[in-house]
Amino acid sequence: MTIRPSRRTFLTLTAGAGMAGAAAAQETIPLPPRPTATAEELATNEIFWAKIAAQYSVTSAINNIENGYWGIMARPVMNAYVAHTERVNRENTYYARGALNDDLKTVKTRVADFLNVSNDEIRLVRGASEALQILIGGYNKLKPGDAVLYADLDYGAMKSAMQWLEGRRGVEVIKINIPEPTTRENIITAYAQAFKDHPDVRMTLVTHVNNLTGLIHPVKEISALAKSHGIDVILDSAHALGQIDFDLTDFDADFAGINLHKWIGAPIGCGLIYIRKNRIRDIDRFMNEPGDDNDIEARAHTGTLNFAAHLTIPDALSFHEMIGIREKEARLRHLRNLWVSEARNIPGVDILTPDDPTMVAAMTSFRFKSRVTTEDNNAIVRTLAGKHNIFTVRRTGPAAGDCVRVTPAIYNSGDDMHRLAKALKALT
Ligand SMILES: Cc1ncc(COP(=O)(O)O)c(C=O)c1O
Repeated sequence: MTIRPSRRTFLTLTAGAGMAGAAAAQETIPLPPRPTATAEELATNEIFWAKIAAQYSVTSAINNIENGYWGIMARPVMNAYVAHTERVNRENTYYARGALNDDLKTVKTRVADFLNVSNDEIRLVRGASEALQILIGGYNKLKPGDAVLYADLDYGAMKSAMQWLEGRRGVEVIKINIPEPTTRENIITAYAQAFKDHPDVRMTLVTHVNNLTGLIHPVKEISALAKSHGIDVILDSAHALGQIDFDLTDFDADFAGINLHKWIGAPIGCGLIYIRKNRIRDIDRFMNEPGDDNDIEARAHTGTLNFAAHLTIPDALSFHEMIGIREKEARLRHLRNLWVSEARNIPGVDILTPDDPTMVAAMTSFRFKSRVTTEDNNAIVRTLAGKHNIFTVRRTGPAAGDCVRVTPAIYNSGDDMHRLAKALKALT
């Protein structure tokens, strides 16, 4: 995203009239002034990032470098969420049947502007799972005898959804493995070969940043290749927004599922469906949902939402923009590089993402060469937590075996990364 607002102090972030003084409000601290530096220079400035870290309330019980599940809210965002919750709770259906609808429309416009897409191309839902299941299940261009394709590094629930299309639509389901060690070229070659070998493929799932190894996939190249074969792309962008700088409209992907509760730091329960305007009919209306055939709103039915969570999205976007996506991405990659550069020298450790900055940001997984089972990797996670007080997570899915994922957030410090590298040395 390239849109950058003027920098305001976080103290001005409020949740609307009458919201001040929320009982559970956390103390807000003004953001530090941004030193004059490039994003890459700023990435190494521990003093600056310690002040950003002070915007977050984080447990001291463990050193958490598993921030891939969802992103914790910064204090101003949390305060806004509490205030929105108080209002929704206090005003109950008087608000929900009244001003809420317009407020949610304003939220949607804010998100569309942020994404640089049109308001009628997005549908706010509860998360990327909901968005992608609707897209995969609702994609109605398939007929028996067609094929669909996914990869070993795609997200588990989405692999299941793709597999489910076999019975649902009568299609062949092709699975490819992304090679290890991974390079930009060998990923593109894997898709090119698969598209060539399987001319019946009509739709493919493509993951933007995968949850297993942290790799940023070359979406632009894969989606252009898919388009040249007449294949539609459903983009799983659950992990990309807020972690890396990109513009959705750069890709030949007409369908995407996106999270706001990971790297944007909105409350849990915030995500969206993106469908390019002229493609909305190609996704089934959700269970006879009323509305125009081209109405993206008819593609989902969320029922009674956590309204306060969605009302907080603009607060989260403002916080995110005040730090800046380039600054965030560079900092996250710097933290990743700190532990990876040390871990690469540990005999027997494989790092599962390349150092190419276009292919990695915050997340990276490692694997000890001889320890590829789930139990092996659970044991590593347990030892890191029990002996070193470092929280990570085991991932199952890559064809070459299980691994352990490390995901720093912008509140982590360089020291957190060095502590991990030291602990990994002790594991050999
Ligand atoms: C690549 C990927 N896709 C989809 C999802 C689903 O996101 P959510 O659970 O937030 O709906 C995740 C969650 O971690 C993910 O990593």
